[in-house]
Amino acid sequence: MEITIRQATAANEKEVLRLIRDARRVCLHFKVEELKDRLETEPFLVAYARGRLVGFMFWDLHYSYLARLRGAGLADRWPVSEYLRALLPPSLESLRAQGAATLAYVGSDDWLIEPLQEHGFVVDNIILAYQKADWAVPSRGNQEVLVRPTQPDDFPALVALDQAAFEPLWQNTARVFQDVLANYPYFVVAELEGTVVGYQFSSLLGDRGYLARVAVHPDYQGRGIGTRLLAEAIAFFKQEGVRAIILNTQQDNQASQRLYRWFGFKLVGEEAVVLKFNIPSEFP
Ligand SMILES: CC(C)(COP(=O)(O)OP(=O)(O)OC[C@H]1O[C@@H](n2cnc3c(N)ncnc32)[C@H](O)[C@@H]1OP(=O)(O)O)[C@@H](O)C(=O)NCCC(=O)NCCS
Repeated sequence: MEITIRQATAANEKEVLRLIRDARRVCLHFKVEELKDRLETEPFLVAYARGRLVGFMFWDLHYSYLARLRGAGLADRWPVSEYLRALLPPSLESLRAQGAATLAYVGSDDWLIEPLQEHGFVVDNIILAYQKADWAVPSRGNQEVLVRPTQPDDFPALVALDQAAFEPLWQNTARVFQDVLANYPYFVVAELEGTVVGYQFSSLLGDRGYLARVAVHPDYQGRGIGTRLLAEAIAFFKQEGVRAIILNTQQDNQASQRLYRWFGFKLVGEEAVVLKFNIPSEFP
């Protein structure tokens, strides 16, 4: 099959949407409503065979040297190995030219994980799922901090907090915090003497509460602030009448797992895998 690859433009929106709708193998880690904007971002590559769209691949250069796979999809008749052979090298070229050194994939798309590993991606972490179906709280945590709703003014402090508390893959940008503030029903910060030292946001997924993020600045960890944020989130979920609270964390994040287990969260399984690939300086 003769394949032509090129950078997408906004004009590709309809056919990419059609492939997203019809193809069996699609992974999307961005909102479909954002597709038009995303199509203009490099590299969002589209592949054609005989004038028809047969695949796309989109990497988001989240931080200068780290690119994350946000979208992938291919026509049912195209083998994944051929798809990756066609789209990975030009993606890498473009990302390397923009300064990327590492590629990351986070997800549970069975059709994609093994083929990516065959192309040199290695397992970096496993994302675990925890659940709790009661309202018991072992401690209410630090009562000195003020827990209050987040405001847009807090974003610079939250971006700095993420940079101190997380590895780049998990750091949120101001745009993400903006999106969370607009769409999540619960988003609070913990403030100590006027300084934002932690935050927590949660959402509702049907009749379950999803504890999406808890973070405390490393300078303030170990003082019961994480405990306070968790206790407050559980009070929110209780008020919302959810059936259970779920959360995800990284397998190698011992501090957060100790805290969650202490709060009575039980491990319920593996949710996703984190794969990474270091771009060699010479790529064939
Ligand atoms: C995870 C995190 C939020 C915890 O915040 P924190 O403010 O340091 O937490 P607290 O001071 O309330 O203390 C949590 C402690 O309660 C502890 N605890 C557990 N069982 C306990 C018990 N039986 N009795 C008393 N304390 C207990 C936890 O183990 C933990 O202490 P340790 O790490 O020293 O073992 C913080 O470490 C953090 O922001 N980490 C980086 C970001 C992150 O990984 N977030 C979670 C994944 S999204």
